[in-house]
Amino acid sequence: MNNAINKEIDFGTPVVESDKKITLEIDGTQITVSDGTSIMHAAMVAGVTVPKLCATDSLDPYGSCRLCLVEIEGRRGYPASCTTPVAEGLKVKTQTPKLADIRKGVMELYISDHPLDCLTCATNGDCELQDMAGAVGLREVRYGYDGENHLKAEKDTSNPYFQFDPSKCIVCSRCVRACEEVQGTFALTIQGRGFESKVAPGVENFMDSECVSCGACVQACPTATLIEKSVVDHGVPEHSVTTTCAYCGVGCSFDAQMKGEEVIRMVPNKNGGANHGHSCVKGRFAWGYATHQDRITTPMIRKSIHDAWTEVSWDEAIKYAAGEITRIQGKYGKEAIGGITSSRCTNEEVYVTQKLIRAVLGTNNVDTCARVCHSPTGYGLKQTLGESAGTQTFDSVMKSDVIVVMGANPTDGHPVFGSQMKRRLREGAKLIVIDPRAIDLVSSPHVKADFHLKLRPGTNVAMIAAMSHVIATEGLIDEAFVKDRCEWDSFQVWRDFVSKPQNSPEALSEELGVPAEEVRAAARLYATGGNAAIYYGLGVTEHSQGSTTVMGIANLAMATANLGREGVGVNPLRGQNNVQGSCDMGSMPHEFPGYRHVSDDATRALFQTAWGRPLSSEPGLRIPNMLDSAIEGNFKALYCVGEDIVQSDPNTQHVTHALESMECVIVQDLFLNETAMYAHVFFPGASFLEKSGTFTNAERRISPVRRVMTPKNGFEDWEVTAKLAEALGYPMHYNHASDILDEIAALTPTFKGVSFKKLDELGSVQWPCDDANPAGTPTMHIDEFVRGKGKFFITEYVPTTEKVNAKYPLILTTGRILSQYNVGAQTRRTNNTAWHTEDLIEIHPHDAEDRGINEGDWVGITSRAGETVLRAKITERVQPGVVYTTFHHPESGANVITTDNSDWATNCPEFKVTAVQLNKVSQLSDWQRQYKTFSEEQIGFVEHAKSEAKV
Ligand code: SF4
Ligand code: SF4
Ligand code: SF4
Ligand code: FES
Repeated sequence: MNNAINKEIDFGTPVVESDKKITLEIDGTQITVSDGTSIMHAAMVAGVTVPKLCATDSLDPYGSCRLCLVEIEGRRGYPASCTTPVAEGLKVKTQTPKLADIRKGVMELYISDHPLDCLTCATNGDCELQDMAGAVGLREVRYGYDGENHLKAEKDTSNPYFQFDPSKCIVCSRCVRACEEVQGTFALTIQGRGFESKVAPGVENFMDSECVSCGACVQACPTATLIEKSVVDHGVPEHSVTTTCAYCGVGCSFDAQMKGEEVIRMVPNKNGGANHGHSCVKGRFAWGYATHQDRITTPMIRKSIHDAWTEVSWDEAIKYAAGEITRIQGKYGKEAIGGITSSRCTNEEVYVTQKLIRAVLGTNNVDTCARVCHSPTGYGLKQTLGESAGTQTFDSVMKSDVIVVMGANPTDGHPVFGSQMKRRLREGAKLIVIDPRAIDLVSSPHVKADFHLKLRPGTNVAMIAAMSHVIATEGLIDEAFVKDRCEWDSFQVWRDFVSKPQNSPEALSEELGVPAEEVRAAARLYATGGNAAIYYGLGVTEHSQGSTTVMGIANLAMATANLGREGVGVNPLRGQNNVQGSCDMGSMPHEFPGYRHVSDDATRALFQTAWGRPLSSEPGLRIPNMLDSAIEGNFKALYCVGEDIVQSDPNTQHVTHALESMECVIVQDLFLNETAMYAHVFFPGASFLEKSGTFTNAERRISPVRRVMTPKNGFEDWEVTAKLAEALGYPMHYNHASDILDEIAALTPTFKGVSFKKLDELGSVQWPCDDANPAGTPTMHIDEFVRGKGKFFITEYVPTTEKVNAKYPLILTTGRILSQYNVGAQTRRTNNTAWHTEDLIEIHPHDAEDRGINEGDWVGITSRAGETVLRAKITERVQPGVVYTTFHHPESGANVITTDNSDWATNCPEFKVTAVQLNKVSQLSDWQRQYKTFSEEQIGFVEHAKSEAKV
C-alpha cells in the first residue's frame, strides 16, 4: 500500500443506500443509483466531474457555493446538483455555455477576495480552490483588490498542530459542518452575514475554544485556510503508506503521507473500517515521539541498576542477555524467568515473544498488560458467551436505540468511536451512563444522557443485580430468546437469584448511592427501548469483582435478547491499540494463541510439533505472581517488551522492590521508561512507523501496520526477539512479519483465513476469519453462541475490602483524558503536552471546602499503600466523597497510592477504588522526591553512556 498520494474520488455527497433504484441520464450517460442520491453523486459515479467547493462526501450537502449548478430538462433555473436528489427519467446537463459562464462568475468573486499567492502557498498543487479555478477556466479577475476584502485578516496559530488563516477562507462552511457532523464538538460557527460572514471558534482562538484538535475541519477545508503546520513547514507530501494508529483500541486507519523518510501528515483513511476517515488528536497529530531526541537507538548493558549504562553493539547486547538468561536458569531453574508483552506490540511481536518464553525458555511465565485492564473481559465473556471478545462492530452503534455506557469515557478514551456514538445519539438514540463521574457524554452539545446513574465506585455488581431484578420481576425477560439460545437451567437459577428482594433497587439504593426509581427506569429503558447495546471500559473491569460485572452484563444482554444482531451486544472498549490482539496471541500464562488452555493435550501437541520443543502443561505466573515471587527470591529475570510496569501497575513501591530483587531485567522500548530505570539490558525498540505487522482493535478488527520509515534502532521488534531466541539456540526462520502471521494463521483457528495478502485486498478483517467466514465476522453469536448455549452465572455482590473509614474517608478512582495516552511515554513527547502538563486531583467543592483546599493548591493524597501530591482541580464532575485523577505523568505517582487488591478471577488490579484522605500540603511527597533523585540519576547514566560512546 505504498502509493502516490491518495487522491480518492470525492463523490461530493454521502453514499445513500436504498432498495429503490432510480435511473436518469447525465450528459447523455444512463446511470442507476439508489433513491435519495444527489445528482452530484450520481454524476460522479457516472464518471462526470461536477465543479464543487462546499460539497464533500463526508458531509451532508449544504448548497452554498453555487458552483455545482446544472441544467435539468423541463425544469426552470439552475439547481445545485449537490442538494438536488435524483428522480426517475431526469435528463441532466452538467456542461453548457450558460453553466460555464455562471461558474466562472462565481469563481471570480471568490478569487477577488483571495490572496493570489499560489506559488508560495503551502498547499500549492493540493488546493481545491486552485483546482476549481482551473476547472472552470478562470483566467482573469476583473474586480481587483481595491474594494473591501479580507486579505489582512490575522492568522490564528494558537493550536500546536494547525493554523487558521482567514484571509484564505471562502466561507464554504465545510469546517463548521465537519466539526458538527463528523466530530460532534460544535466548536466552530459562521459569524455575521453576507460580506461580514466569517468562520470563528466561538472564543478568541482555537486553543481557548471547545476544539479538541481532531483535525476534521483541517481535512475538510478546500483551501489553505485550515492547514497542518507540518505542511506549512515542510511542503506537501510526496507519497503515502496506509497503516494503523498505534494509540487506542479504535484502530483507525491512516495514510502516512511522506516526503522521503519524513512523515508530513497523517490523514485518516476514508476506507478505514473502524474510522471511515475520521481521527482524534493523537492519531492525526501526535506522532512526533517517533523522532524525539529521547529515543534510545543503541543497545545498552550494565551489571547493576546503580551503574552507568554502556552502549554496545546489537551482537554484544544479545549475547550478554542470552548469557544472563542461561546463567539464571542454570542456577535457579527455568521457572525463575518470565516475559511481559505489551498491547502496544503488534500481534506478530507478541506471538514471537510468547513463543520464545514457552518454546525456548521452557516456561509459561508470560503475561501481558491486559492483566491490568481487560483480563476480566476475557474471562467473563468466555464463561458466558464462549468467546473472549466484544460482539459487534463499531458501526453497529448506528442501529442502536438504547446505548448504555458503563465505566467508560468514549469521547476521551476512544474518541473516534465517541464521535460516532454522539452522531447516533443526535439522531435520537437514548443514553444511559453508569459512572461515578460525569463524563462528557452526560451533557455535551446536542447530547444529553437520559439517565446518569452516579453509583459509588465499587458497586457495579450491585447495579447490574438491581437492573436485572427489575427486568426479571417486571416480566421484561425475552423468554423465547432465552429458551432458544441459552442454558435454561442456568437461566432459572439466575432469575431466581436476581429476583430476590435483596437485589431490588430499593434494597441496594443506599449501597449504590442512586435512587431506586432511577435504576428502575433505566432498566426498563434498556429492556424495552429497542436495540440496546452496552459499552463498557476499565470502570467495569478494574475492580475486585471485575469479572463478575462482565458476566452480569452478559447475563443482562442474554435475558433481554440483546445479542446476535446489529445494534445490540456486549462491547468492551479495550483501551490500547492491541489489547485484544495481545490476548489473542497467547500472551496469558494459561493460554496458547486462540485462548486454548496449556493443559489441553491436543493443543499442546499441535504447538510442540510446530515449534519442535516440549511445552509445559502448567499455567505460568501472572504479572503480580512474578513480582511477588521476585520479592520472595525465586523469580530472577524478566524480559519486558514495550510495557512499563513501574508506571502502569498498582502499588509502585511493590513493583520497584520486585524489580530491584531480580538479577537481570531486559527492557525493550523506545525510551528509558520507568521500568528501564531498573533494567540491566536495554534493547531499543521501533515505533509503529518503523515496522510491519498487525493490530487487532476492540471490535476484533485485524488491521495492517506498514513500515513507513527505516527503524532508527536498526531492527523491527520481532527481529530483536528472534535474535535473542537464536542466541539461546533456537533460530526462528522468519524473513518478514507476514511469515509470522502465516504461522499464527496455521495454528489458530480464528485466524485461519488471515494473511497480509488478504489485508491488502480487504483493508482489514474481523476475526473469526476462516473457511466459513473468509471475509471475517462483523457480528458474533448470530445463530448460536460460540459456546453453544449461552450460560447465565450468579453474580453475587461482594463489597470490596477497600473500605472508607475515618482515616481514609474518600474514594479515589482513575481514568484517562483525550490528549494523553496511557503512561504518556509517547504523548508526553509530542505537542499534546499543550493540553495536559500534569495530572490533577479532581475534588468536589464540598470536600475541598471541608479541607480548606482551593483550586490549584498542592494536595497530599494518602492511602493504605502510600502517599503522593497533586494539584487540586475543584469540580462538580465528581460527586462528594469521590476524587479522581489520571495517570499520564510518572512523577504524579498515581499508582503509589493504589493497592494490591485485585479481581478474584484474573488478578486485574482494583485501580478504580482506593480509600484515601486529602490534605493541603506545601511540598511533594517523600516518594516523589526520591523518584526525582532516582530518575535524574538514571537519565544521567544514559547520557554518560552516550558521551562515552562518542569518545
Ligand atoms: S479540530 Fe476538530 S474539534 Fe477542533 S474545530 Fe476542527 S473539527 Fe472542531
Ligand atoms: S476555513 Fe476552510 S472549510 Fe472553513 S469555511 Fe473557510 S474555506 Fe471553508
Ligand atoms: S481514536 Fe484511537 S485509533 Fe483513532 S486516531 Fe484516535 S487514538 Fe488513534
Ligand atoms: S458544491 Fe453544490 S453548492 Fe457548493
